[in-house]
Amino acid sequence: MPALPRSNYSMSRESTIAIAKAHLDRGDALGWFEEVYRAHSADAREIPWADFAPNDLLVSWLDAHAAGGLAAGTKACVVGCGLGDDAAELARRGARVTAFDLSPTAIDLARQRFPALATEWHAADLYSLPAPWRRSFDVVFEAYTLQSLPAGLRRQAFENIAALVAPGGKLVIVARLREPADAVPAAPPWPLTRAELIDAPPAGLTVEREEEYPPSDKHPARRIRLTYRREP
Ligand SMILES: C[S@@+](CC[C@H](N)C(=O)[O-])C[C@H]1O[C@@H](n2cnc3c(N)ncnc32)[C@H](O)[C@@H]1O
Repeated sequence: MPALPRSNYSMSRESTIAIAKAHLDRGDALGWFEEVYRAHSADAREIPWADFAPNDLLVSWLDAHAAGGLAAGTKACVVGCGLGDDAAELARRGARVTAFDLSPTAIDLARQRFPALATEWHAADLYSLPAPWRRSFDVVFEAYTLQSLPAGLRRQAFENIAALVAPGGKLVIVARLREPADAVPAAPPWPLTRAELIDAPPAGLTVEREEEYPPSDKHPARRIRLTYRREP
């Protein structure tokens, strides 16, 4: 599906923020995701973060770390996979992929979009993940999910995502970045600070690489890509 013209993008972003705020105002930090996917399931192009292509910073990470394809048997997990493009990219590069999202509608759409891929798609909440997933993935990829969660819920989410990484495995996080002094937006996405991501990595993980990306025409927000490693 092609990208939406900008005017429509602005409208869909406004309606998404309205849905998010209605949930957040009544103390429900997670319910809005499913409502947004459901509201736009007939035309998923209206989901503001849906660009129908793998994340550019996942693609460049894979080009740098696995140019010839991922090692045979690599197990990858995509957190908050949305419509599935990042999972599909990892599968194309040879990984056995498990992808999950809180939203059952997102998972249905991802399954429909990539019927031929031997990817496991799951509707699952990162706050209560299946025990067998713990420490079982060689590559864990997360883009733009942490920044969609209110500050008070973020650390636990980070810990739970980190717990998916196998010994010797890597976690790659992509997020919008802000300085501590920058104003915190009233509605998601909430860009993250370096301190949240780097100062105290979850137990067992070390920061292997930190890369910042200035705003560009395609990505108007400043971004960061972190690569963490769990010791073997
Ligand atoms: C901003 S979207 C990003 C989606 C996708 N990663 C991308 O880059 O297009 C955030 C995603 O996180 C998912 N999500 C939010 N909270 C979650 C949770 N507790 N467990 C699993 N997924 C969650 C949402 O349903 C949504 O698909």
